[in-house]
Amino acid sequence: MTAGFSRIGFILAASGSAVGLGNIWKFPYVTGENGGGAFVIIYLIAIALIGLTIFIAESYIGKESRSNAAAAYQDVSKSKNKNWRWGGFQIFAGIIILSFYAFIIGWIIDYIILSFTGLPTTIKEAESAFTTLITKEIGTQITFHTVVVATMVYIGLKGVKDGIEKLNLILMPLLAIILFGLLMYSMTLDSFGKAIEFMFMPDWSKITPDSILAAVGQAFFTLSLGMGIIITYSASMSKDSNFIKSAVFVAIVDTSVALISGIIIFSFLFAAAAKSTAGPGLVFISLPLIFGGWGIFGQIIAIAFFCALLFAGITSAVSLLEPSVRYLIERFKISRIKATFITAGFIYIMGIIALLSMSEDYGTILTFFGKSLFDWMDYLTSSIALPISGFITSIFLGYFVDKNILKTKFSSHVGVLIFNIWFALIRYVVPVAILLLFLNKLCVI
Ligand code: PHE
Repeated sequence: MTAGFSRIGFILAASGSAVGLGNIWKFPYVTGENGGGAFVIIYLIAIALIGLTIFIAESYIGKESRSNAAAAYQDVSKSKNKNWRWGGFQIFAGIIILSFYAFIIGWIIDYIILSFTGLPTTIKEAESAFTTLITKEIGTQITFHTVVVATMVYIGLKGVKDGIEKLNLILMPLLAIILFGLLMYSMTLDSFGKAIEFMFMPDWSKITPDSILAAVGQAFFTLSLGMGIIITYSASMSKDSNFIKSAVFVAIVDTSVALISGIIIFSFLFAAAAKSTAGPGLVFISLPLIFGGWGIFGQIIAIAFFCALLFAGITSAVSLLEPSVRYLIERFKISRIKATFITAGFIYIMGIIALLSMSEDYGTILTFFGKSLFDWMDYLTSSIALPISGFITSIFLGYFVDKNILKTKFSSHVGVLIFNIWFALIRYVVPVAILLLFLNKLCVI
């Protein structure tokens, strides 16, 4: 096995994984769709009660077992029963997510180039730039998808310390600088106050049960939970690190980036009197149009913005590769090179099929029950697999791991009260919350 993380390396890499497209792209548009302030409050509660609790749980499992996400549960369980080798499900869900995550990062590369060459100036142009890209420009998408997967392979081959840790050491500070710059700029806009109001003044009438499900789903996704990532990263964490402190730190960084991105994006949107409910097209249609209206200065802002998105995306993508790579190395005793190529090869092909499912030419044959393959992949992972994983992890730690061992391990880092709160959350609150949300979903359908 290659060398593990340095102490700061884990925090950096876990933050790099957590801070991704989910923060800068998805959080603002989901907030927009769910009416702003009230959703933000629910989201913060979901992060604090559910996200952070499971993050600590996954980190514990990884750190104690020091093995891949499939074997880890069995290692840590009371019974050592083979049935606890279910983690492969999580790893697989992660691989599916990475397949589409990779070509979305490809879109971002396309937009960086667009920012240099010329941004749209009318809504028609802006919409058609995006729709043309995803429905017609198969070659362009595959080219960028290839670049992204190749970059992941390059980093993945170097391993945890020389690849992942180093990458994060460079990209995370760059990301912070760009976001800070964009935030400063958005403060100079008149719309800044309106953005703050939209993000932090709750209007409860906009909240539906679906908004709550969206908040919990987003909490999982944004903290990179339910895919074996935190387990895998924690398995390479130095033995004496305080995994609870690290978890809190990562959750704070991740939430701050989401909130800051929201403020930046809504300031831009409101400056141009654009709608806050633009959905997934927010970043790829509304923003480029706004930047396009600001002339050359807008191009600079656009480049900075899409670079931030790119850096955030790449550090998350490499984290999604590692659980499968580590699993294959340990389970089948193969080299890192082989494990990396097998995983990346699968992602590469699945990604291409998924992007074809949105194209004009192949869309119909890759659409099932009214949803494109891409939509299915997103739905089955983000809305179904991640909460199921979270549910199993919470039941596992709540009932199938020796409580006294847990208590002892926690006690070197936190007091008994904190342990008891965490334990109550993982044993009762998290599983019940996830179950209720699921039942509600089923009843609605
Ligand atoms: N947490 C990342 C984000 O917010 C996405 C991600 C999901 C990364 C799953 C790894 C695993 O974008």
